[in-house]
Amino acid sequence: MSALPKVFIARPPEGDALDRLRPYAEVVVWGEDRPASREELIAHAHDAVGVLTSVADRIDEAVLDACPNLRVVSNMAVGYDNFDVARLTQRGIAAGNTPGVLTDATADIAMALILASTRRIVEGHNALLAGEWTSWNASFMLGFEISGATLGLIGTGRIGLAVARRAQAFSMRVLATSRTRRAEPGIEYVELDQLLSESDVVSVHVALNEQTRGMVGEREIGLMKPTSFLVNTARGAIVDQRALATALNRGAIAGAGIDVYCEEPVALDDPIVQAPNVVLLPHIGSATTKTRRAMADLAVDNLIAGLAGRPLVHCINPEVYNQR
Ligand code: NAP
Ligand code: GLV
Repeated sequence: MSALPKVFIARPPEGDALDRLRPYAEVVVWGEDRPASREELIAHAHDAVGVLTSVADRIDEAVLDACPNLRVVSNMAVGYDNFDVARLTQRGIAAGNTPGVLTDATADIAMALILASTRRIVEGHNALLAGEWTSWNASFMLGFEISGATLGLIGTGRIGLAVARRAQAFSMRVLATSRTRRAEPGIEYVELDQLLSESDVVSVHVALNEQTRGMVGEREIGLMKPTSFLVNTARGAIVDQRALATALNRGAIAGAGIDVYCEEPVALDDPIVQAPNVVLLPHIGSATTKTRRAMADLAVDNLIAGLAGRPLVHCINPEVYNQR
């Protein structure tokens, strides 16, 4: 039996970051290419002092009850809606995340979805493969031009602002709605309804929590122009996925680009998958080698600090230190 504290790695990170953890912990890595179920997570982590999680691993009261030795949980993600933060704090367990290092990669994917949906990139690729490209035709595969068009950002945190900068480089006018209206050159802050009714492309960048869940519902989608596009790279549950599918089917909006879903992986028979004019990605916002390695490093740094009883590099619940 190891004298080192046990850390359960619920999702192996990209690269060799775990090698830096091994001098400090007995590292037990989940070996399957799927998330551990709650029972499997508990079976492996019941005696662990630390856990490294992905967005697919829920750390809730039942898991915390079953894992009494936990001192640190480290999410390999910036979003932490998979954590019950209040319960973690109540129990004095430090919770970490990986902000900043994934901002550019995720903003790039939002921009890619904006361009893919407005310029019919996937449809064009598929048309070529299907032999539908018979000659140059002035009216073939016409799309919507974003230059000079209006982008509406819901949320101007790190990723929202990085998308704003990219959109400005594409000569887009940028509207935004945000709890904290940061003075940023070229961003015009408006109320949500105005943003929805004026924007040609709406892009979602708020964190998921009880206030933002369902923020873009049937009523909000109904305010969008029939020529407009909705892009979501934040979290599926911020948008009413069923209402979005209905709007796409009715032609109430022109298209959508989606990286995140209410349930992940999304079922192939889900209405959003079956809807027309939608570009779908499998939650790959941060999926570049450089970014995933940086996330792994930060998640491991958080674990090492938590095991040593030091403040985490990025702590979601710094109040825990006041309780110690
Ligand atoms: P961030 O800098 O913390 O920004 C989060 C934004 O959400 C801020 O604008 C914040 O407003 C807003 N917000 C939070 N709670 C709110 C509420 N109750 N009402 C209104 N606005 C609220 O985070 P980020 O790094 O930009 O990441 C944003 C989100 O993107 C993450 O939470 C995650 O869900 C998602 N994400 C997805 C991927 C992917 O692979 N698709 C990758 C990375 C991140 P304030 O500034 O006023 O607090
Ligand atoms: C990914 O979805 C993240 O929140 O980092």
